[in-house]
Amino acid sequence: MPNFPLTRRQALALSAPLLAALPAFKYAVGEAAAQELTPADAGLDPHDHTHAAHIGAEVPAPGGPNDLDDLLYPPAATPHEPGRLKEYDIIAVDKEIEIAPGVFFPAWTYNGTVPGPIIRATEDDLLRVNFTNGGSHPHTIHFHGIHPTNMDGVFEVVDVGESFTYEFPAKPWGCHLYHCHSTPLKKHIHKGLYGAFIIDPPEPRPPAQELVMVMNGFDTDADGGNNFYTVNGKSFYYAKYPIIVKRSEMVRVYLANLTEFDLINSFHLHADMFRFYRTGSTLDYEFTDTVMLCQGERGILEIEFEHTGIYMFHAHQSEFAELGWMGFFNVVE
Ligand code: CU
Ligand code: CU
Repeated sequence: MPNFPLTRRQALALSAPLLAALPAFKYAVGEAAAQELTPADAGLDPHDHTHAAHIGAEVPAPGGPNDLDDLLYPPAATPHEPGRLKEYDIIAVDKEIEIAPGVFFPAWTYNGTVPGPIIRATEDDLLRVNFTNGGSHPHTIHFHGIHPTNMDGVFEVVDVGESFTYEFPAKPWGCHLYHCHSTPLKKHIHKGLYGAFIIDPPEPRPPAQELVMVMNGFDTDADGGNNFYTVNGKSFYYAKYPIIVKRSEMVRVYLANLTEFDLINSFHLHADMFRFYRTGSTLDYEFTDTVMLCQGERGILEIEFEHTGIYMFHAHQSEFAELGWMGFFNVVE
């Protein structure tokens, strides 16, 4: 066997796109003694990095064309109606999820997906979240935003099999997020317990094609570093299935960073620029094509594409992009 002086992380970078070619390949996730993969194990040329520019069916992304629709397309905004009840049921469940072809991660999830469901309310709605812990560890839901401290999901740890109802008026408007706040915190977050939380302003935002992107990473060999990066949970997914948007309409992306271990993540758009509203709670924006966010940071991007065609987007950390955090918009008339 050729001797490639690669770390496991580098080896995975090279081999991940081709894991699909290995029948019944299943990476031994979560075990300290996980198998070291080499490019030779995956049967590929270690100098082949061409996958990063691939688009369409040949891209090594798991799942079918509509698998992530519920995580990409938020429910519609609702008109301002103070006191209206917005109710969500969320259950924590342990679930093995496929994050790259043939690569399974033993996730802790909200409602079975990583990220969890999009929670959306309008400012002054009464938000009620009925949480049940159907997992194997104590969990909570900690929301960002403004609410009483006994609704903060920190002190009231919900034991296995128990329930807790979070209830508070939704405020302030913006792009927020939620995540488990049980300890050890980094474990509960990197295992997958997080999601996007949108609060719409009383004065509605202009109509747009709305999308949600939660940036994350997966540590498949339990060494405290991510081996795969994604938006919405599946590596290279939007390279295989580009997001179709119309040139004539504004595109609005609610972007949140829940990547554990790495200090920052980023979003870079090719061939156009966007307005970036940090946290989305004011109308102040910066005009850019690249934005970086630390863990827990989030914001709203608004883009009016000037041309039709294929626009790449990805983390500007090249390593993250080559480990799965890359996709395309297909802008059509
Ligand atoms: Cu937890
Ligand atoms: Cu947080």
